[in-house]
Amino acid sequence: MSKNLYTLCAILAACIRCAVRGDTCGPRGRCDLSRGCPDGWKGFQRPYGRMCLKTFTGLVRAGATGCSNYNATLGSMQNDDEKRFVIDDILSQVTVSSGLVWLGINRQPMCYTSTSNADLCAPSARDAFYWTDGSARGWDMFDWHDSAPQLNNCAMMFVSNTSVQVDDGTSGVWYPGQMTDKGCDTINASGALKTIGYVCAKIPNLYSRT
Ligand SMILES: *[C@@H]1O[C@H](CO)[C@@H](O)[C@H](O)[C@H]1NC(C)=O
Ligand SMILES: *[C@@H]1O[C@H](CO)[C@@H](O)[C@H](O)[C@H]1NC(C)=O
Ligand SMILES: *[C@@H]1O[C@H](CO)[C@@H](O)[C@H](O)[C@H]1NC(C)=O
Repeated sequence: MSKNLYTLCAILAACIRCAVRGDTCGPRGRCDLSRGCPDGWKGFQRPYGRMCLKTFTGLVRAGATGCSNYNATLGSMQNDDEKRFVIDDILSQVTVSSGLVWLGINRQPMCYTSTSNADLCAPSARDAFYWTDGSARGWDMFDWHDSAPQLNNCAMMFVSNTSVQVDDGTSGVWYPGQMTDKGCDTINASGALKTIGYVCAKIPNLYSRT
């Protein structure tokens, strides 16, 4: 059997597996998991079920109400596929090539205010923060920029297709996906670190017939 034919059969088999589960077939035979998500949202498989993600433009304070308009919450990220989606989706809606987006991350209560727990509560200490949408698991996507932590109860992520040198005297180089807890409620920086939007997450309605 020729290599092309073999590839075609493998994709067909993968698509049949998608169809059996009620999903449609995406590029290269990967299932599109967006069934039950609102239009324009994208579905992903999480350890304990599916989640739909979508990014929106706007300032940070708009994020919580912005998501609740869709009966959604501020969103988390489980893996690199989701991070790629978040970056592509928000950048496709803005004219700038980089910025910060608000994610559903909070400090553990023991880390809210106390600086005496500095070791336990440094971002690198993993347990200092948690995903607020109750769906993503683990710390794989926690990637703090050097300028964190600032003891704020939040996190924003740097979105860009490339790393960017920020010339504000303190920030240095930012890599796509790096996070900061530097004043989410008030940060409104300009240039490469401008606040451009937020991520929402919503459990898909897998039983909807529409
Ligand atoms: C949100 O939930 C409420 C109550 O179930 C419903 O009436 C409303 O249509 C929902 N809105 C969206 C955008 O799904
Ligand atoms: C970023 O990369 C994506 C491909 O992953 C591309 O479609 C998009 O145009 C790029 N955006 C910018 C602002 O460079
Ligand atoms: C952030 O910028 C927006 C628009 O540029 C402005 O309306 C808003 O007041 C600013 N917020 C803060 C906290 O500086």
